[in-house]
Amino acid sequence: MTELKVLEGKKLTVVGYGSQGHAHALNLHDLGMDVTVGLREGSKSWKKAEKAGVKVATIGDAVKGADVVMILAPDEAQPAIYENDIKDNLKSGAYLGFAHGFNIHYKRITPKEDINIFMVAPKGPGHMVREIFEGGHGVPCLAAVHKDLSGDTKEIAYAWANGVGRKVGVIETTFQEETETDLFGEQAVLCGGVTELMQAGFDTLVEAGYNPEVAYFECVHEMKLIIDLVYEKGFAAMRDSISNTAEYGDYISGKKIITEESKKAMKGILTDIQNGTFAKSFIEETETGYKFMDKERDQYSDSKIEEVGSKMRKMVFSK
Ligand SMILES: NC(=O)c1ccc[n+]([C@@H]2O[C@H](COP(=O)([O-])OP(=O)(O)OC[C@H]3O[C@@H](n4cnc5c(N)ncnc54)[C@H](OP(=O)(O)O)[C@@H]3O)[C@@H](O)[C@H]2O)c1
Repeated sequence: MTELKVLEGKKLTVVGYGSQGHAHALNLHDLGMDVTVGLREGSKSWKKAEKAGVKVATIGDAVKGADVVMILAPDEAQPAIYENDIKDNLKSGAYLGFAHGFNIHYKRITPKEDINIFMVAPKGPGHMVREIFEGGHGVPCLAAVHKDLSGDTKEIAYAWANGVGRKVGVIETTFQEETETDLFGEQAVLCGGVTELMQAGFDTLVEAGYNPEVAYFECVHEMKLIIDLVYEKGFAAMRDSISNTAEYGDYISGKKIITEESKKAMKGILTDIQNGTFAKSFIEETETGYKFMDKERDQYSDSKIEEVGSKMRKMVFSK
């Protein structure tokens, strides 16, 4: 049984009220589930969650007596939260859920023996998971079971996924597969790959003397319009929708940009994820005060592309 019924009458706790936390908590609350949000003392999210209508308690209190606890704080904060606030408060036989496999797969959290472990990873940023749900639709979720003491952890995971994602679809995976493919996708394609591609295209046009505003529209703004077509209908329909000139240029030039060298780099990225090199370096970064990330953030926020983008977004979205 993967229906929401298996969660009815159970005490559900969502730890954290950020991007994913607010979406899981509010979607399940809207479906009539008994949800408590667990937050640290003095949390800036406390009032926001209460105002949205969910019960709020400190993490320790929210975990005490809970049947299912979903941990939705940042990955790097989760090991300490588990050790300090969850481990000793979580009752025997409870279910502990994650939205990403990082801490279990890389053994940053070793859960105590007497609990069930599962994952529900909605395939979308948290604010979209909520927004799409509010619009009456849902997002697909990945689900996995790491440890099943009770014999029904898969039913719990699927029910959670079907609640948060409004039954759009659940794809079964493992903690290892989700962790490695998720990290690879965001680094090589979705975040790292796409932003560097747009940046390089913008810089090439601007350095060649073209108007930065025109360059921004061509290399950044229109990305969404093309991706929306791919998202809704696939590559072939997107190519059908663009002009023959654009389609011919796509076939001629795409492979000059993404070359065998690029694929070799992708394989290198995947190897670093698989052998734990990336995880180790990310953990070091978080433990030494996010120095590298702060430098990168400053550099990007002061960049030409952001300056032009801010102007263009005002023009496009202010009316
Ligand atoms: N972001 C996404 O769209 C997305 C997509 C798929 C999977 N995931 C996974 O979902 C999980 C949550 O990610 P997220 O991006 O939603 O996290 P997030 O928005 O950064 O989480 C913020 C929440 O965590 C709380 N928090 C932060 N540090 C804490 C600490 N040291 N102690 C206690 N609470 C703390 C914050 O408390 P305050 O309110 O008090 O600041 C806030 O409520 C991660 O495993 C992530 O990999 C995220």
